[in-house]
Amino acid sequence: MKTLIIYFSQSGFTRKVAEQIRDGIVEAGGTCDFKTLREVKTESLADYDLVGLGTPVFYYNSPFNVRDFMQGLPDLPDKQWFVFCSHGSVMGNTLIYMAEALMKKGIRVVGYHDTYADGTIPFYPYPTLTTGHPDEQEYEEARAFGREIAERSKRIAAGEQGLIPEPGEKKQEWVQQSESFTLEFLGSVMPPMHIDEERCIQCGECAEACPVDGIDPEADPPRMQDPCVYCYYCAKICPEVAIVADWEKVVPIAPPNYKRYREVLEEAAARGEFRWLMDPDSLDFEDVLYKQRERELKEKG
Ligand SMILES: Cc1cc2nc3c(=O)[nH]c(=O)nc-3n(C[C@H](O)[C@H](O)[C@H](O)COP(=O)(O)O)c2cc1C
Repeated sequence: MKTLIIYFSQSGFTRKVAEQIRDGIVEAGGTCDFKTLREVKTESLADYDLVGLGTPVFYYNSPFNVRDFMQGLPDLPDKQWFVFCSHGSVMGNTLIYMAEALMKKGIRVVGYHDTYADGTIPFYPYPTLTTGHPDEQEYEEARAFGREIAERSKRIAAGEQGLIPEPGEKKQEWVQQSESFTLEFLGSVMPPMHIDEERCIQCGECAEACPVDGIDPEADPPRMQDPCVYCYYCAKICPEVAIVADWEKVVPIAPPNYKRYREVLEEAAARGEFRWLMDPDSLDFEDVLYKQRERELKEKG
């Protein structure tokens, strides 16, 4: 069985989960190619018996670049794919939206897997509610999913019926959220980022990491340009904290948002689907990520 895992991952959690799923597939006796969204050649996809597509959750859905990738796929009738994601507090209907997009290409979605993970954005506090995830238990679950999906896929290919799970009903409480977070909406509410010329050392790390080539490294100094998908990864990784914005404008949205995130996690914990690995009362809404990075920069001198 020829298997491929395609993943998009910025801070590395989806990649780590993808590696575990790959190891599970290999343990089940398969082989598994492993590629980033950028590396994969869509013309080669029809050669695979089973393909996994993994992503972080951004804004209650898959990131815009992952959605574009799915939309741009050729028709792949009856091909078997599975979808997986890593997320903070609210996965919403991400895996269902992904399945719908793939099914439009004739693909049969034969498995779903999700994992809680760490991660935050510049105007949110860090550590965050899901810090510590994924842990060894979640990595083992991902490996078990890999073994199981490899076995299931073989049985489906052999003609066994009734093995393809339904994507499930969308959770209505999150539909409005995911649908309202369009690029236009984000552009209208999020503070625009720009490159501070005094700080920028033109290392090019931001341009290299931007998932949509939204930073022009040729310009002097490099500049932000359309498109921006509001992932904030450039601002998070810039070694000189040279990608700046009026974060203070959005810092006040953290406490009410986190109140809701915490409720969602408490509900998930009560269902046995989430384990607290940090004390949620210890969150410091004053010490948001961009302030921590500014402080580190000052200490560095
Ligand atoms: C811009 C942005 C938006 C996010 N939105 C959500 C969200 O709506 N729901 C959620 O559960 N997690 C959200 N997260 C958290 C990420 O899904 C989580 O950190 C993920 O594990 C990152 O994966 P990676 O390390 O592979 O990049 C968001 C993170 C970022 C950077």
